[in-house]
Amino acid sequence: MKLIPARLSVVKPSIKRNFDIYAMNKTQPVLILSKNTPLKKGSLLFKHYANRIIYIPSEQLQAYKQLITNSLDDILKDESMPEQHKMYAIYVTFTNQLEMLMNNKNISIAKNISKNMTKFVGSILNSSSSISIFLSFIENNIHNIATHMFNVGIYSTMLTKILYPDISSTQLEKVATGYFMHDIGMIKIDKNILQKKDKYTKKEYEEIKKHPVLGAEILEKELKIKDPNIIKIILEHHERKDGSGYPYGKKDINRFARICSMCDIFDAITSKREYKDNPPETTFEALKNNKEFFVDEFGKEFYEAFVLCFKQ
Ligand SMILES: [Fe+2]
Ligand SMILES: [Fe+2]
Repeated sequence: MKLIPARLSVVKPSIKRNFDIYAMNKTQPVLILSKNTPLKKGSLLFKHYANRIIYIPSEQLQAYKQLITNSLDDILKDESMPEQHKMYAIYVTFTNQLEMLMNNKNISIAKNISKNMTKFVGSILNSSSSISIFLSFIENNIHNIATHMFNVGIYSTMLTKILYPDISSTQLEKVATGYFMHDIGMIKIDKNILQKKDKYTKKEYEEIKKHPVLGAEILEKELKIKDPNIIKIILEHHERKDGSGYPYGKKDINRFARICSMCDIFDAITSKREYKDNPPETTFEALKNNKEFFVDEFGKEFYEAFVLCFKQ
C-alpha cells in the first residue's frame, strides 16, 4: 500500500469520509482512523494531528481531495484556520479540479476552476508569505498535464504579481485563469499521443501543436470567456519573439502570454519526463544554466523578477 502525505486540519469532521487515515510511528504506518469511524472535532486525535502530517492510501486520495474541494468555501470562512492551511486547501482543490478536467474532459469543471480563481488570487494578495507557500506545493516528480498546468499557474501568477505590483485583483484573476488553463486544448488531442512515453514523431508533434488554437476555441465557444488577455495566453504561449514559435509564428506576443511561456519552459526543465535520460534540473540549476536563454528570449526584467519569486 502506497501512502500519500496529507493534512487533517482541512478535513471537516462532521462530513462523511471515504478514506482511512494513517500516521507514522517511526517508520511504520499505523491506522489511526478507518473510514467508517467518524472524526470528532473536539477529540484528542483531531487536536493531536491537526498540525501534523497524516497519510492517506493512494487509492483513496481522490476521496480526500474531493472532500476538500466540496468544503473549500467553509474552510476559507473558518476564522480559526491558519492561512497556510487555507492555501493548502486551495492547492488540493485546484489540482483535483485540473485532474478531473484533463481526465474526464468535462468542460463544466473548467467553470468551477475559474470561479475558484477569486479565492486563489485573494489569498495571494492578502499574504506576504503566499508566494513561498504556494511554491512549496509545486511537485516536480509527478508529470501529467494537470500538474503541469497547476505549476505554470502558480509560477506565472507569482511572476505577474512581481512584475506588476499594482495590478488589480480583477485583472490578476483573469490572467491567472489563462495561466492555469493554458493547455486546456490538450483535452481535444488524441489520448494515445498524450500518453506516449517516448519522444513524439513529427506527425504527432504537428497534432500537439494544435492545442493553443483548440484551447482558445474551448474558451470562446464553450466557456464563453472572451477576455483578450486570457485568450492570448492560451493562443500565444508557444510563440517565440523571432517568429519561430507556433501556431502563427507571431513576433508581437501578448505580455501575459510571454510570462506563461517562460514559466511553461521553466516547468518543462524542472519536471520529470519519461523520455528524458537525465534527471530534471533543480530550481537553482535551471535558473543558472538557462540564464542566457531566458534573458535573450524574455528580457532581463522578466528573468530577474522570476529569480525574485524564489527568494521570497
Ligand atoms: Fe502548451
Ligand atoms: Fe504548457
